[in-house]
Amino acid sequence: MDSVGVIILAAGLGKRMKSALPKVAHVVAGKSMAWRVANIARTAGVSEIVFVLGHGRDKLVETADAFGAKIAIQDRQLGTGDAARCGLAELSPKIREVVVLCGDAVMIRPSTIRSLVVARRKRKAAAAVLTGILGDPSGYGRIVCDDRGNISRIVEERDANADIKKIPEVNSGSYAFDRAFLARTLPRLNDVNAQREFYLTDTVIQALQEGQIVVPVPAGDSDEVRGINSRRELAEVGALLVGKKAEALMDAGVTLVDPRRVWIEPEVQIGIDCTIESPVTITGNTKIGKGVRIQMGCVIEDSVVGDGVHLRPYSILSGARVARGAVIGPFAHLRPEAEIGEGAHIGNFVEVKKSRVGAGSKANHLAYIGDATIGKKTNIGAGTITCNYDGIAKHKTIIGDGVFIGSDTQLVAPVTIGKGALVAAGSTVTKDVPPFALALSRAPQKNIENWVARKKPELLAKAGLKAPKIARRPIEE
Ligand code: UD1
Ligand code: CA
Repeated sequence: MDSVGVIILAAGLGKRMKSALPKVAHVVAGKSMAWRVANIARTAGVSEIVFVLGHGRDKLVETADAFGAKIAIQDRQLGTGDAARCGLAELSPKIREVVVLCGDAVMIRPSTIRSLVVARRKRKAAAAVLTGILGDPSGYGRIVCDDRGNISRIVEERDANADIKKIPEVNSGSYAFDRAFLARTLPRLNDVNAQREFYLTDTVIQALQEGQIVVPVPAGDSDEVRGINSRRELAEVGALLVGKKAEALMDAGVTLVDPRRVWIEPEVQIGIDCTIESPVTITGNTKIGKGVRIQMGCVIEDSVVGDGVHLRPYSILSGARVARGAVIGPFAHLRPEAEIGEGAHIGNFVEVKKSRVGAGSKANHLAYIGDATIGKKTNIGAGTITCNYDGIAKHKTIIGDGVFIGSDTQLVAPVTIGKGALVAAGSTVTKDVPPFALALSRAPQKNIENWVARKKPELLAKAGLKAPKIARRPIEE
């Protein structure tokens, strides 16, 4: 594919989206349409990519740059033929074959792009066109073939008569062209049609005039031809991509308890023997190991989860790393840069942010761990809070191995708790605690005998308790 370049047509506004954003910047299954199409082109192994941009181009240059693509600017949207002409000018001379893709057709497979190129070469055709049979072909250009099965015309819906509208075979908007053919015919297109646009599809007429052929390449999967023109189609194609991902995961050895009710984006990686309940959302750059159990209500984005981890119901992971065998949740919140060590337990209503929790350590109930480093086999009691923020800056809490932090402790950072130390329940720790020491900061307890009976007898009456007999003497307070 060294001599093959790709032009991605993406200059249109996409009126039917009713949006301030250019159409191809809209997100489908977690990535913009532009990203998806560029990624497919790159995976197909082409040597150059050119994006044709116009409307809202500033929203798309970053994506183009991420793929090392060149940018051609189409100032006025005069049609797909004009857009292809703009793109062609940016391809380097070594490119002899040109694949044109629509920025809104995100379901084409990399192997289909290669098939298009191969089909054109084999038949020595001017062009190969990816086609599909759709149950409802409305809105698409229709493929008209001659008696040898070559394409004789592509007719846009708005230029079609009733007979042509009945043709179920549609143009996907993806093509492989001989570069020289494209270079000489694009300038010859005219805009004599219902939309007053220069149609790329009219290159078919040019080919016939030159005595060349244009071959149809039927898509292996008719969903591949789908374009996205409206919010409805955006949702439909998103659901198709996610549905295919679910099927691929099951084929690869992942159990989905209810595959229709998981939302797992195409780029997510999941190992064998994982079991995923519903509803669960897994997005972005997430990698999940083998044998992981993910229970209902979990939302996981941009996270790495090790083998054998158990994510109990309603755990939220965002930018977190969880090592093998850890148990998380229910209702745990792992925020960016949370790193949970092997076999550690993070229980209900525990929030961890920008902190390392060592192997085998536990924070099982109601805690906030922020900007902390916690050693191995340390126990963080219920209600522990790292007071990491003084209103101006964030400070670190460092806790060694084998530490026991009693319940309801506040650790006022910056503070260090040495290994093997014990912090008594209810303490507010403001000074470092040496290794193996006991830290205790609560006020001593005082009991006042019979205070309730003397001062609040109505409380006892309410509970049906009899007040004890009390010798008459003044209460010491
Ligand atoms: C186009 C095809 C149609 C095909 C359909 C498949 C033409 C004339 N029609 O129609 O046969 O069935 O795709 O989805 O080619 N664009 C530009 N500059 C322009 C016009 C369009 O860059 O001046 C870009 C758009 O941003 C879009 C792509 O080209 O990504 C296709 O344009 P769109 O308006 O969606 O074409 P369709 O009407 O869908
Ligand atoms: Ca379209």
